[in-house]
Amino acid sequence: MSSSARGRSGHVIHPDLRRTPPPVARGEGIYLYGEDGSRYLDGCSGAVAANIGHGVPEIREAMTAQAEKLAFSFRSQFTNRPSEALAERLGAALPGSLGWFFFVNSGSEATELAVKMAIQSWQERGRPEKTRVLSRTVSYHGITLGALGMSGHVGRRSRFEALLAKDATVASPYCLRCPFGLRYPECALACADDLQARIDAAGKDNVAAFIAEPLVGASGGAITPPPDYYRRIREICDANEVLFIADEVMTGMGRTGAMSAMQHYGVTPDLLVLGKGLGAGYTPIAAVVAGDELMRIIEAGSGAVLYGHTLSANPLSAAVALAVLSYIEDHGLVANAAARGEQLAARLRELQRRHPVIGDVRGLGLLQGLELVADPSLLTPFPPSEDVTGRLIRHAFAQGLMIYPAAGAVQGSGDAVLVAPPLTIRDAEVEELLRLLDAALVELDVELRARA
Ligand SMILES: Cc1ncc(COP(=O)(O)O)c(C=O)c1O
Repeated sequence: MSSSARGRSGHVIHPDLRRTPPPVARGEGIYLYGEDGSRYLDGCSGAVAANIGHGVPEIREAMTAQAEKLAFSFRSQFTNRPSEALAERLGAALPGSLGWFFFVNSGSEATELAVKMAIQSWQERGRPEKTRVLSRTVSYHGITLGALGMSGHVGRRSRFEALLAKDATVASPYCLRCPFGLRYPECALACADDLQARIDAAGKDNVAAFIAEPLVGASGGAITPPPDYYRRIREICDANEVLFIADEVMTGMGRTGAMSAMQHYGVTPDLLVLGKGLGAGYTPIAAVVAGDELMRIIEAGSGAVLYGHTLSANPLSAAVALAVLSYIEDHGLVANAAARGEQLAARLRELQRRHPVIGDVRGLGLLQGLELVADPSLLTPFPPSEDVTGRLIRHAFAQGLMIYPAAGAVQGSGDAVLVAPPLTIRDAEVEELLRLLDAALVELDVELRARA
């Protein structure tokens, strides 16, 4: 290895080979501590994953207790109590008949598996030609090739475009920059109707499913569709025999102030995908959740769902996720996400009044997004070369605050960040987060003015 490629802290490949992140030592509540003693307020739950905060003793205890009994068994040879209990308890917490769980290790695996189950269910009904999966132009469903193929994320796709599917074509419900130049409600939900147009173009007999994030996270900075958007989506899917997959990897498990973000919209998907908050950062685990009807079709057909990963439904991860779910329920964290989310959103809008760089504040519960603009009245995006998202994140980090990048909604450019602290955050901690963010925005203002 050449010395220039050698990071100072070893051989781990970091996102930026020229900038090794500082070593972290421990976490407690909403804070992480570096080895040098620096304290960071985790304003984005890592990658919107550490939903119950860091260092929770109950999780450590559940982890140890299960590890002492059994860490691994393979799903075709044994079932195990923790994964059965997790499926039962989660099913009770989710809407409709969504009660059948396939556990995997990451959100990317789970979105791909959801698509495979959708396609399989059409095969079982004698409709093998239904294989296309439509998704939105601004979306992120994961980093593996199948999941990336469904994602409308220009930056993450670009190197591998030749290998990827091309069906991320449905207009996004991005009201700030409406793809049709319209305004809600006069638009009459033209973005939802675009799904119908794309189904027509593909031929409804070829379309298996439509996949969407309830709120567009990593690629859109918490783009939040209008209240009646998903009802229209559901109608269009039903009318065209297209399954609706809600990718709740980021929005699920209480993040938006409801167990499933689709509950805000009163719509139940055919398949729902969970990740991130399911293990809350304590273990790699994700899940595809299917409803009764879909499972009945597969059961009455081949009766086989053969998509396992080696570690699918392993007892250790399941026991940890079960302890996370108990913690969420015992501490009323879904309600706290709703209450603290309102506080956070209101105070972010105050920040917007003082910092013209904030062009929009949007989101639900503790998934809030800030879109950053060069001109607040015209909403002009910054040139990508300015890396304004990266600048704000670095200023925040220097203040001891972590926030998450979500740039790229404006045809691959456009700047946005997510503010998504653990659902355990208290009101005084929200105020601290805002003070740090305010200071970071002041630094950004100074820097941008110096460059102008
Ligand atoms: C909505 C959504 N789906 C899927 C994924 C992929 O999950 P993972 O990174 O666990 O593979 C992500 C990750 O950010 C996500 O936000």
